[in-house]
Amino acid sequence: MRLVTLPGVFTPLSDSWMLARALCAKVRPGQSVLDLCTGSGAIAVAAARSGAGPVTAIDVSRRSVLTVRINARLNGVRVRALRGDLFTPVAGERFDFIVSNPPYMPAENDQIPERGPARALDAGSDGRVLLDRICAQAAAHLNPGGAVMLVQNDLIGIDPTVAALERTGLRADVVERHHGPLGPVLTARAALLEERGLLAPGVREEDVVVVRGLAA
Ligand SMILES: C[S@@+](CC[C@H](N)C(=O)[O-])C[C@H]1O[C@@H](n2cnc3c(N)ncnc32)[C@H](O)[C@@H]1O
Repeated sequence: MRLVTLPGVFTPLSDSWMLARALCAKVRPGQSVLDLCTGSGAIAVAAARSGAGPVTAIDVSRRSVLTVRINARLNGVRVRALRGDLFTPVAGERFDFIVSNPPYMPAENDQIPERGPARALDAGSDGRVLLDRICAQAAAHLNPGGAVMLVQNDLIGIDPTVAALERTGLRADVVERHHGPLGPVLTARAALLEERGLLAPGVREEDVVVVRGLAA
């Protein structure tokens, strides 16, 4: 895949590709996909390249939306790129797959950054602000038999994600798990995470998972 990232747009990391692989293994030709918090559009473009369609990608960042359009063109696929807050631009629409690698880093406080690189990372003091909002709203945007797939780590709690999806009537489970060292952002925040009880003392490893919620 050919991919550019304009300055200020999140460069896909291993968790982005983990989610892209999990999605592409499941999506069938012609199935609709919504990629929330799309960044460069890497996951949306990967889905479109594997035959999905129509594919929609949403991000709150203007530069991200522009980057998605460039990347779709570079790869010769169609992606509808929209700017806005989570599901707002697709009110009333439903999809076969909803995927997201949202900001999920526990931050200093509960203030959500409105701009800058922190907007791609920080998700309140528990790291769950965006994830919880997506879990609460996803079911209302899924077609019957559709699935939401979310990437996160174990530091911010996997059970709360499963429970939040199940509260909306979805059947939820963990479909991918990768154990590895903490990335640079979490390593830099390790002392804060230990203080909050999100990280055991001295541990510098995490599980990154894909949680799936299935609609009946
Ligand atoms: C961790 S990055 C992931 C980007 C991409 N999904 C990937 O894996 O490469 C999170 C993205 O969420 C976007 N974002 C943050 N808050 C958002 C919101 N409320 N609605 C939509 N997008 C948001 C950021 O601009 C950023 O591009």
